[in-house]
Amino acid sequence: MSNAVRLAEPADAPELLRVIRAAFSARPPVDPPAEALADQVHDVEAAIERGYGVIVERDGRAIAGLLMEVEDGTATLRRVSVLPEAGGAGVGFDMIATTLIAAADLGARRVEIVARSEFPQTIAWWERAGFVKLRPLPTGWVMGRSLPVPVRVPDAASMRALGRRLAGILRAGDVIVATGELGAGKTTLTQGIGEGLGVQGPIISPTFVLARIHRNAGDGPDLVHVDAYRLGSAGELGDIDLQETQPRAVTLIEWGRGLAEWLSPDRLDIDIQRSDDPADEERTVYLFGVGERWRDTLEQFREDA
Ligand SMILES: Nc1ncnc2c1ncn2[C@@H]1O[C@H](COP(=O)(O)OP(=O)(O)OP(=O)(O)O)[C@@H](O)[C@H]1O
Ligand SMILES: [Mg+2]
Repeated sequence: MSNAVRLAEPADAPELLRVIRAAFSARPPVDPPAEALADQVHDVEAAIERGYGVIVERDGRAIAGLLMEVEDGTATLRRVSVLPEAGGAGVGFDMIATTLIAAADLGARRVEIVARSEFPQTIAWWERAGFVKLRPLPTGWVMGRSLPVPVRVPDAASMRALGRRLAGILRAGDVIVATGELGAGKTTLTQGIGEGLGVQGPIISPTFVLARIHRNAGDGPDLVHVDAYRLGSAGELGDIDLQETQPRAVTLIEWGRGLAEWLSPDRLDIDIQRSDDPADEERTVYLFGVGERWRDTLEQFREDA
């Protein structure tokens, strides 16, 4: 049962409206009532034409969707809708993850939503998705977060160069979670980080070894390189005792999403995406810092900065 997330076309307006109506009528009534319930097909069509729509389909039918506008570097999401029978929070997280990458690609730096104060569970859901309360409104909160910083990387040498540049801002205790399909370039990026930190190599895919410690010959941090591909659970990751090495090392975990978050409340998430054309070597690397440690640190990597 896989969900396909894509940008909506104006022709998707009736399907999207069906999802919006179903999702908003399933909520308890609020005062003033949700504007979404008064939407007509032409409203949704106009919103898609003016900005963007995102639609999630399962077995050819829309199960979730939202509308987005981008202005002055801020993407605003509206009508965030998941069908009650679509199976919970996971669908919403898939939709938001794709939406945030789309918004970053469109040049936005921040994303905002409005959450009604009547729905504390909805506010909690947005907080889990990395949003914080920004401004109070009579009916609720404007919540927002910054977007990942996209960096275009044309070839393997540029990937190592990005790693060396990242090393310049890394320090002992940092945790990096690298995500991206097989061969995306996670290890290549790690090699650049290792060069930049000045640790002993060689850095290779730790296929048969779960974790390798690369010692720093100088004063800088060691590099602990982990491959969680074969790990089943956060418990197994705990077995290799990264907490022991973490304080004096930069810890980089390939395939660590969903496993490594407990290591530190602050982490650098790196998501490497390939182009649809397998012959194209270009990758897009999305840098996203979670927590106080990374506040504003990554803006220098914006290509238009
Ligand atoms: N733009 C690019 N960035 C990074 N690597 C690239 C790029 N273009 C081509 N390559 C090649 O793609 C391969 C990436 O392999 P790498 O081991 O770094 O991937 P990985 O994400 O660690 O994979 P795995 O999930 O198997 O560990 C290397 O052979 C590299 O030379
Ligand atoms: Mg690898």
